[in-house]
Amino acid sequence: SSSVGFIGWRGMVGSVLMQRMREENDFAGINPVFFSTSNVGGRAPDWVGASSLQDAYDIDSLKKLPIIVTTQGGDYTTAVHEKLRAAGWDGYWIDAASTLRMKPNAVIVLDPVNRQVIDSALGKGIKDFVGGNCTVSCMLMGLAGLFHAGLIEWMTSMTYQAASGGGAQHMRELLTQFGLLNECVGDKLADPASAILEIDKTVLELQRSGKLPVDNFGVPLAGNLIPWIDKDLGNGVSREEWKAGAETNKILGRGEGFDDPAIAIDGLCVRVGAMRCHSQALTIKLTRDVPLDEIAQIIDQGTPWAKVIPNSREATMSELSPVAVTGTLDIPVGRLRKMSMGPNFLSAFTVGDQLLWGAAEPLRRMLNIVLK
Ligand code: HSE
Repeated sequence: SSSVGFIGWRGMVGSVLMQRMREENDFAGINPVFFSTSNVGGRAPDWVGASSLQDAYDIDSLKKLPIIVTTQGGDYTTAVHEKLRAAGWDGYWIDAASTLRMKPNAVIVLDPVNRQVIDSALGKGIKDFVGGNCTVSCMLMGLAGLFHAGLIEWMTSMTYQAASGGGAQHMRELLTQFGLLNECVGDKLADPASAILEIDKTVLELQRSGKLPVDNFGVPLAGNLIPWIDKDLGNGVSREEWKAGAETNKILGRGEGFDDPAIAIDGLCVRVGAMRCHSQALTIKLTRDVPLDEIAQIIDQGTPWAKVIPNSREATMSELSPVAVTGTLDIPVGRLRKMSMGPNFLSAFTVGDQLLWGAAEPLRRMLNIVLK
């Protein structure tokens, strides 16, 4: 069986990947080799039997492997990938980080949506395969049907992104902030007669006091939101917003380097106090007027995981939320309706687990594709 090196398997994305691989019995078909950046010589996870952790920076050990899967992050990719290729390594590099995504020699993988792009790249001998931005991957898993039917002229995506997108420490920080806010008004909350404006004022004072932990988010996220994600590109656009258009088109095999023109996709990315599901409100300009029931059917059949939620209050509240979706591979798409601007304007809302389709699952599936 093929040897596969794993780097970053202990981190948050890595842990979800390990969990999914175990659920799907993926380890049965491979000989896993575990690496570490911090604990070389330590014990590899016990589910694969006794072995010790190898040095993730040792090019000679990495070079022996036909396949490497990394969820270690962009700094690791930057430090190692080029050196490894320069040393003549010709194996498959499967990566979650954004570092290589837009390189001409790398393919962004989301096989239920772009298996053709992947197969054509494999045929050309391409060896770098990178998971997409979480928001992009979750959106495409929901809307693949519409893209493939050629129904999207342009689209805006207004996001509601969870704390987990920043990392494990961000999730902890959010919960700590929530806890401290609750604590500072605990006695008043317990008293039904206490004044709500007094509670609000006390909470706001703590939020503005500089006393909440904000090492990760920079400002309080609890009881707040942050309408900026990732770097400032200096042109009014955040890097997360730029990714929506750039990566979606690359995944679909459109735009620069491809025959088909890019589809304009733009929007505004916002961090909210959800835990690990990214949500997005979409405004779609359709290429033609298609009845809503047909649209629902096209979306539903787009991928086996896309799931149309009836546009009713009850169904929306119970099925179209981070709390409902977390831990599942479902990508519900709801709030589907034609907008008042005209019959070619479609509104939609979708939610996806940022750690599953947004990170680990496309890598797990890509590994299985190269193993076959
Ligand atoms: N950039 C994303 C976010 C995370 O911050 O939510 C993963 O692509």
